[in-house]
Amino acid sequence: MCFFKNKKSYCQKDGIVLDYSLFCKMNSDKILIHPSAVIDDGAVLGNGTKIWHFCHLVSTCVIGENCVLGQNVFVGNRVSIGNGVKIQNNVSLYEGIIIEENVFVGPSVVFTNVTNPRSFIERKNEFKKTSIKKGATIGANATIICGIEIGSFAMIGAGAVVTKNIKPFALIVGNPAKQIGWVSEAGIRLLFDEDTIAVCTETGTQYKLNNDIVVKL
Ligand SMILES: CC(C)(COP(=O)(O)OP(=O)(O)OC[C@H]1O[C@@H](n2cnc3c(N)ncnc32)[C@H](O)[C@@H]1OP(=O)(O)O)[C@@H](O)C(=O)NCCC(=O)NCCS
Repeated sequence: MCFFKNKKSYCQKDGIVLDYSLFCKMNSDKILIHPSAVIDDGAVLGNGTKIWHFCHLVSTCVIGENCVLGQNVFVGNRVSIGNGVKIQNNVSLYEGIIIEENVFVGPSVVFTNVTNPRSFIERKNEFKKTSIKKGATIGANATIICGIEIGSFAMIGAGAVVTKNIKPFALIVGNPAKQIGWVSEAGIRLLFDEDTIAVCTETGTQYKLNNDIVVKL
C-alpha cells in the first residue's frame, strides 16, 4: 500500500520514499500510475493497482489492491473502492459511493449523489450513499440514481437507469430498470426448476430461489 504527500509516494511497507516521477512506473508494490494521472496528497492505493491516463484521485479516497482504473476516471472525496475492482474509461465516482471487492463498472457509467440538484442551492450536506456490493457488474453507459444498493453479483445491463435497490444475483435492464432474471456469480443466466434449484452452466454451482431471494448452495 502507498499514500501520497507533496508529490512523493510513501511506501507504508518499508518506509521508502520515491520521487513522484519515478513512481509513475511500476514500483516494488507493482502499483502503476500513468504520468498523466493526478493523485492528490493522501490518496491511498493498494498493491498491484493500475491507474491509467488522465485519472484524478482526490486526497481522501481509498483504493484497494489489484484494481484497474481506465482512462479518465475521477475518484472523489471519501470514496472507497475494494480489492479487485475494474472501472472502465470515463467514470466519475462522487462522494457517497462505496464500491466493494471485485465489482466491474463498465465504460461511461454515470453515478449521481444528489437527488434534486439546483445550481443555486447548496446541497453538499445531502449527498446520498450508494453501495455497490461485491462482485456486481454495471454495464456500459448505465446510470445509477443515488441512495440505492446494488446487491452482490447483480448484473446491470448496458444503458439501464437504476432507480431502486437491486437484489443480489438479479439481472436488470431498461429505463427505468426492471428485473428480467437471475445470474450466477460467474454472470451466467440461472433457470430455476420446479424445486427452485438452478445450476450455473459454467461452474456447476447450485443456487436456490426462496421468497424471491437467491442463495448459493
Ligand atoms: C443485460 C445483459 C447481461 C443480458 O444478456 P443476456 O442474458 O445474453 O440477454 P439476451 O441478449 O438474451 O436478452 C434478453 C432480453 O433482454 C433484452 N436486453 C438485453 N440487454 C439489454 C439491455 N442492456 N437493455 C435493454 N434490454 C436488454 C433483450 O433485447 C432481450 O429482450 P427480448 O426477450 O424481448 O428479446 C447484456 O445484454 C448486457 O447489457 N451486458 C452488458 C455489456 C456491457 O456493458 N459490457 C461492458 C464491458 S465492454
